[in-house]
Amino acid sequence: MKNLKLRRQGKGKTRLALEGGSPVRPKEEFLVFGAPQICEEEITEVVQCLRSGWIGTGPRAHQFENDFAAYKGKRHAMAVHSCTAALHLSMLATGVRSGDEVITTPMTFCATVNSIIHCGATPVLVDCDRETMNISPAQIEEKITAKTKAILVVHFAGRSCDMDPILDLARSYDLMVIEDCAHAIETQYKGRKAGTDGDMGCFSFYITKNMTTGEGGMVITDDDRTANRIKMLALHGMNKDAWKRFSDAGYRHYEVAFAGFKYNMMDLQASLGLHQLRRVEENWLRRAEIWKRYNESFAHLPCILPAAPEPDTRHAYHLYTPLIDIDHIGKSRDWVLDALTAEGIGVGVHYIPVHLHPFYRKTFRWHKGDFPNSEWIGARTISLPISPALSEKDVQDVITAFDKVLRAASG
Ligand SMILES: Cc1ncc(COP(=O)(O)O)c(C=O)c1O
Repeated sequence: MKNLKLRRQGKGKTRLALEGGSPVRPKEEFLVFGAPQICEEEITEVVQCLRSGWIGTGPRAHQFENDFAAYKGKRHAMAVHSCTAALHLSMLATGVRSGDEVITTPMTFCATVNSIIHCGATPVLVDCDRETMNISPAQIEEKITAKTKAILVVHFAGRSCDMDPILDLARSYDLMVIEDCAHAIETQYKGRKAGTDGDMGCFSFYITKNMTTGEGGMVITDDDRTANRIKMLALHGMNKDAWKRFSDAGYRHYEVAFAGFKYNMMDLQASLGLHQLRRVEENWLRRAEIWKRYNESFAHLPCILPAAPEPDTRHAYHLYTPLIDIDHIGKSRDWVLDALTAEGIGVGVHYIPVHLHPFYRKTFRWHKGDFPNSEWIGARTISLPISPALSEKDVQDVITAFDKVLRAASG
């Protein structure tokens, strides 16, 4: 792996907080992983929404949908309660049902796989590439069967999957492509925006994501029928949303065309989203800066830095995930997690691969060893804070703590 840096520099001179030394940040200043950036404009909008008499799905949610569709250059954007809901509805709108198979990656959050299972279909995993951590296009074709209905790609950490070979396969085998863009709001591939290549793109506005509505998600598509189906699926299968029923245009009756779900986004959530979206590019620049600082500061440490973005792509810099060189430092990744936490730095793990969780092992008879690249990453990966809410001091504290912990680990 090209970024492997094993050059160790001296022993840690400072005692770790884990061993009774003083932490980089005291307990009361613990740096929360993925803390959102909330500004005055969101606060004002939320208050105005609360005072407006309408906090449910209404004008603000519709405005947010229009703004998001414009940002992505798509005909339709449907705001929902989470990316999990967006994925579930996309699967249903694709026509995925019992007996079908959907190909995806083990290097993802459980929601990706659950959205397939909730349609009664079977997830079929294809291992990821060690360097990009994305589904390996070269291994997809051998997993395609007569039952395969769709490929559900995940742009891990904000790095685009290699979409061209995936789209070629989908065309050859007549498969739908859904993009899990939970990490990839700002991602681009050969000038194309993430979520616009597939039949549908699904986004997350969970608190730790690049923009947040507290909980929230979005589906984008160019297809009018799909958009209409998703809107109805998201609201009980009804043909009118509440704003249309209760607005000053007068009460309107609704009809239920099928049994749908309750996945709609509220105006209260959209009040945050409207302003978060306006800052999304500026915040992307800030995360790019932090990413660069981390890369420069960690180059000498016993860890493998994230690979550089591929040419002609734009990384969203959602997660900064160095791999701890556990083969040389005599400590486990979990020890590093504990040591950083003790130093006052919040951390994450993205991910323990899906196939190793007990439910999936039991249900699909997946075993340790089935997806070696995902397991290799899963044993080493650690996510450091990279939110735009970080101050210069926060960034410096992360650098100091990671340096201190990894030096001590390799000493
Ligand atoms: C890759 C991926 N897919 C889907 C989801 C689900 O997103 P949400 O929490 O908005 O349902 C997440 C959330 O962490 C995710 O990381």
